[in-house]
Amino acid sequence: MRPMTRNFSTVLNSSLLLVSAVVTVMALTAGPASAETVQQGATDDFRAAYATPLDIAEGKRVADGSCARCHGPNGISMAKGVPHLAGQRAVYLHLQLQAYKSGARGKGMMTDAAKFLSDDALIKVAAWYASLDPAQPAPPTKKTPAAVDPSSAGKAAASSCAGCHGDTGISSIPGMPSLAGLDPKYLVAAINAYKGGQRKNDMMMALVAGLGGVDINNIANFYAAQKPGKAQTPAPGNQAAGKAAAAACVACHGEAGGGTGTAPGLAGQDAQYFVAAMRAYKDGSRADPMMKGPAASTGDAVAKDLAAYYASLQPPLPKLAKSLTTADWTQRCDRCHGVNGNSTDPRMPALAAQRAEYLEGILKAFRSGTRKSAAMTAMSQVLTEADVGMLAAHYAQQKARAVVYVQLPARNRP
Ligand code: HEC
Ligand code: HEC
Ligand code: HEC
Ligand code: HEC
Repeated sequence: MRPMTRNFSTVLNSSLLLVSAVVTVMALTAGPASAETVQQGATDDFRAAYATPLDIAEGKRVADGSCARCHGPNGISMAKGVPHLAGQRAVYLHLQLQAYKSGARGKGMMTDAAKFLSDDALIKVAAWYASLDPAQPAPPTKKTPAAVDPSSAGKAAASSCAGCHGDTGISSIPGMPSLAGLDPKYLVAAINAYKGGQRKNDMMMALVAGLGGVDINNIANFYAAQKPGKAQTPAPGNQAAGKAAAAACVACHGEAGGGTGTAPGLAGQDAQYFVAAMRAYKDGSRADPMMKGPAASTGDAVAKDLAAYYASLQPPLPKLAKSLTTADWTQRCDRCHGVNGNSTDPRMPALAAQRAEYLEGILKAFRSGTRKSAAMTAMSQVLTEADVGMLAAHYAQQKARAVVYVQLPARNRP
């Protein structure tokens, strides 16, 4: 929260928007906008928030003539892909209309709708829509459960892998690697290496050929989050000799075999797979610049001892950045978009009760860059498909509250 300057509150000299519910005292949250934007807004951008009742009445005439057939007579859309406008924040609406008019928000139905209207008309129509009661929240859908849990998506996608790699990624079949607790980046790279043919194993290549990027991420996150354990497979070989030989490996694979950087954890790994991997690096069928040297100088007998030593080590618990839950995400979004998507800053769009498929489409547009926004591009980049669906469903189901902006008397404080 940053208190507005006196300079700003003196601009709030016209009418109030009289709507129900949330009262925002015009000590606006400065939010993500810079002080500069606020200063500029004070003279220009905020006009739509302080429209007079007469302006609003004129705005209604514009809306009836040019907008209602798509956005509904009261700003509540019945059409797929067309957003509700009722109760949306006035300044935000005006800025978006300007963006459509200038082409900054892509070309489409809205370009034609905004193109022939004067800025004065845009301000008034924005003020009219902002003055309306917002839509009711959408009922919860069966399609999107309240929270899509990425690890359950990963578990489902990994069901075809369990037969060989174990239900939770701990191998009980000699020759099959354990995957539990491995770094998710390593797992993604390994799966992609099979997919791309850089890592040659006919069976694994066939098994992962059909996996898409989202599945691969979900699977990797699922295995990475499983509690690791030693493979339930035999590990013949001399552990003590292996321990001595492992001195050449600790720099990359860690003192306790937990892995560092791009070098995967080896602790608890299946011994037969381990030996096969060393041989593959040695004969070049598995190419890796870092493993080439260590493998070249390791004979089969030493590899067996190393495998026995590493198999005997208890793998450490993964240090994972845990995947964000619905609550984690919405807490971040609400910082700018207001409690449950009820923005209290007239520049910031409300999300509550907006149409889910519109929100979903917009989040994807931010992510792909078709709709540009300094604040939203970076934010949306890290969202998975599941996150997008979950967030759209969440906000569509929130109760929307209109906002009353209350003028603060200018205080004569230094
Ligand atoms: C032919 C149908 C159509 C007409 C007419 C139309 N709109 Fe739209 N409007 C849309 C669609 C579709 C979108 C979503 C476009 C997108 O994804 O950018 C939209 C989006 C908007 C948005 C962006 C909302 C947001 O939350 O970002 C605003 C504001 C808007 N319209 C206002 C108006 C106004 C004001 C008028 C009348 C002057 C109008 N529209 C006329 C179809 C229409
Ligand atoms: C029929 C048995 C089988 C099934 C089913 C199977 N795998 Fe494998 N997987 C293997 C074998 C064998 C290897 C070792 C291949 C090699 O030497 O490169 C392996 C290796 C891997 C590796 C590399 C591990 C490492 O430490 O580098 C990953 C990752 C992997 N599998 C993921 C999967 C996923 C994901 C699925 C399900 C889509 C799956 N596997 C299904 C047998 C299987
Ligand atoms: C310079 C760093 C470095 C050193 C030293 C090193 N490794 Fe590696 N090791 C790696 C990297 C990186 C990978 C992953 C390569 C890949 O993606 O195929 C790897 C992979 C492996 C794998 C395959 C693991 C799996 O799950 O598929 C084995 C086994 C292995 N190393 C054993 C050893 C042994 C034994 C030594 C010591 C003799 C050793 N490494 C030394 C960096 C190193
Ligand atoms: C740093 C502040 C900030 C955060 C955090 C933020 N947003 Fe936004 N968001 C904005 C701004 C600013 C806009 C308006 C962008 C524009 O001008 O086109 C916006 C626009 C949107 C829109 C378009 C609304 C419409 O009616 O078209 C959606 C949807 C949205 N944000 C969703 C989210 C979600 C979901 C999150 C959390 C993952 C989030 N935002 C986090 C600042 C933020």
